[in-house]
Amino acid sequence: MKPPRAPKASEHLPCPVLKWAGGKRQLLPEILPRIERAGPVGAYHEPFIGGGAVFFELSRLGRLPGRATIADVNPNLIDVYLAVQSEVVALTALLADHQERHRVGRQEYYYAVRDAPGAATSPTQVERAARVVYLNKTCFNGLYRENSKGKFNVPFGDNPRATICNPSVLEAASTALQAAEVLCTGFDSIVDRAAPGDLVYFDPPYVPLSLTSSFAGYAKGGFGPAEQARLASVAAELDRNGVRFILSNSMTESVRTLYREFRIETVMASRSVNSKAGGRGAVEEALVSNH
Ligand SMILES: C[S@@+](CC[C@H](N)C(=O)[O-])C[C@H]1O[C@@H](n2cnc3c(N)ncnc32)[C@H](O)[C@@H]1O
Repeated sequence: MKPPRAPKASEHLPCPVLKWAGGKRQLLPEILPRIERAGPVGAYHEPFIGGGAVFFELSRLGRLPGRATIADVNPNLIDVYLAVQSEVVALTALLADHQERHRVGRQEYYYAVRDAPGAATSPTQVERAARVVYLNKTCFNGLYRENSKGKFNVPFGDNPRATICNPSVLEAASTALQAAEVLCTGFDSIVDRAAPGDLVYFDPPYVPLSLTSSFAGYAKGGFGPAEQARLASVAAELDRNGVRFILSNSMTESVRTLYREFRIETVMASRSVNSKAGGRGAVEEALVSNH
């Protein structure tokens, strides 16, 4: 018997360009059938795009409708998507340069890029984007985190196998993004953008499982109980407007209460659990939908 054929690298493309905390890759087998269940949709919207695991998988499978919007409140992340969308050649060249300099300088080069005065704000969008991708690939755990002043503060990751510039990943992501409008905005604006018959996938920062397990470091400002309640009212408004939605969150009492009028399904996910000293545990997650 012939051994099974190893999939070609291109079969996995497009895929996320960044590793992102809370990325939904492991939950794709649960989320995709629920997106399918909505039937044909007018447009697809993802207002908490992060690394975009669901968006890129829908694109890979040819399941994105003709119109899509992706959005996030984090301007550094949106710089990356806009540069991938419209300046992929320049971005690839800048990343190849970062890769070369990193090979020589490693830790010293990492901190020079991370802490260069004004680097996060002053250069062109494509330079800012290249910096974010470079730091994401080489920082500790690939975890994007900002301090209360909005400064990226993750230490060096010391991963000798980090691929900083991957032209085929960038090229495939750029092709996928041609179909999307990319916006730097809070989730509330979805109410004005989503039309009856559209589908929205919400993946907000989690309601914390315990007082110590909160990860609110995506961007300054955080996402607390008031934002979670506001999100539930946005979902209810979309429902009244004839928009279908799916939302992932922790399975907590507050999530059950906020979405009690909708379908709430339990799925299992592996997540880092602080109480286990950095270990991972299987936790229940909620997938809420109105269809
Ligand atoms: C759980 S992550 C999304 C992960 C994504 N689904 C993935 O697969 O990588 C949540 C995202 O919400 C963004 N965010 C936080 N507050 C927001 C807000 N008020 N409006 C829009 N996005 C927000 C964060 O910057 C973060 O990228």
